[in-house]
Amino acid sequence: MNCFNIFTSKTKRRAKSSPELRVERNRSKTSTTSVNSAGSSSSSRSIIELYKERGHSLRKFSYSELRNATNNFNRSLKIGEGGFGSVYKGSIRHRDGHGDPLVVAIKKLRKNGLQGHKEWLAEVHFLGVVDHPKLVKLLGYCSANGERGIQRLLVYEYMPNKSLEDHLFSRAMPPIPWITRLKILLSAAEGLTYLHEGLEVQVIFRDFKSSNVLLDENFNAKLSDFGLAREGPQGDRSHVTTTPIGTYGYAAPEYIETGHLKSNSDLWSFGVVVYEILTGRRAVDIELPQSEQKLIEWVKQFPVDSKRFRMIMDPRLNNQYSHGAARKVAKLADSCLRKTPEERPLMSKIVDILRHTIRESELNDVSEMTSPLPLPLPEPSTRRMARVA
Ligand SMILES: Nc1ncnc2c1ncn2[C@@H]1O[C@H](COP(=O)(O)OP(=O)(O)OP(=O)(O)O)[C@@H](O)[C@H]1O
Ligand SMILES: [Mg+2]
Repeated sequence: MNCFNIFTSKTKRRAKSSPELRVERNRSKTSTTSVNSAGSSSSSRSIIELYKERGHSLRKFSYSELRNATNNFNRSLKIGEGGFGSVYKGSIRHRDGHGDPLVVAIKKLRKNGLQGHKEWLAEVHFLGVVDHPKLVKLLGYCSANGERGIQRLLVYEYMPNKSLEDHLFSRAMPPIPWITRLKILLSAAEGLTYLHEGLEVQVIFRDFKSSNVLLDENFNAKLSDFGLAREGPQGDRSHVTTTPIGTYGYAAPEYIETGHLKSNSDLWSFGVVVYEILTGRRAVDIELPQSEQKLIEWVKQFPVDSKRFRMIMDPRLNNQYSHGAARKVAKLADSCLRKTPEERPLMSKIVDILRHTIRESELNDVSEMTSPLPLPLPEPSTRRMARVA
């Protein structure tokens, strides 16, 4: 599975919504001639250099500390599973040993081999450097070589309300209200703006999707999973060249095709998640009829300025949304999904528009809600699609 267009399988764990582009074709960074306006300056320090300066705030845990924190990785404390491994709820002591125990999420690397280790290391390096209220905080890590082999774990702040993916697509969860959807989008956009535009070195997230947007008890959203993050291009380079890796259905087409990674590859993924939020449908859903399986292809049949547009809206919203705001947000998504990456907006522009739309929606409140839709819509499937990568 060493070629970018062959998909590795994630079917050993729970089935997932979208397949993942897994293995990297070529690790080298190459330069090009054009200039990326949002790129880092040639004199900026690398993530590793910044990590040496800031990474000491991360706590180093022993394996036994984390085993105790999770009651020996007890199944009853397992709260999730992803490509990296299992996630457990645990409780640890504060550094100074005082106060109530701290509830945390502990991710235990399942994968052996280089890719898993690389993702673990990237997570430690990036999250050791970044610091923003819209990014899940990494509290520390564990790297141990015990009797059971190499152990790699990560300890995060605990997000008690699962992921956006869980809420959008699971019938077991009540539907997310319209205004909350907009606020979740805004938080995610703020997190990405910080990564693209707010640091000495530009960071490209590379795996933006609804399962990587975690929610707290008040539905405040934070981005998680920096295992695939990369430093943006330096100086006058327009992109970094990597082997395409990410999640099928969310990854920008030009990135899959060329391996050229830019911050506006994240913009494409953002556009896909915006449409997930509007429609309540997954980026890819093989349970639906062929013509509806790829969300971005499907929504093209319902242009934002046409009368048909409202037919794409999530039936679980029960018409409790502002039609005008929904159009604005769909236009925003369309601008993120422009074929030419340079034509996509900056993330900070997205933040401005979303803030404005939220303000308007809050002012207009229910008076602007849409009238019932005359045509029934097919219910989106909730079954996750096996990841084949
Ligand atoms: N910090 C956290 N606090 C609470 N729950 C978490 C935390 N991190 C992860 N989880 C839970 O674990 C689940 C799995 O997360 P993980 O990031 O490992 O996989 P994923 O995002 O679903 O898939 P992928 O591996 O493709 O990114 C999440 O959906 C979430 O429910
Ligand atoms: Mg994740």
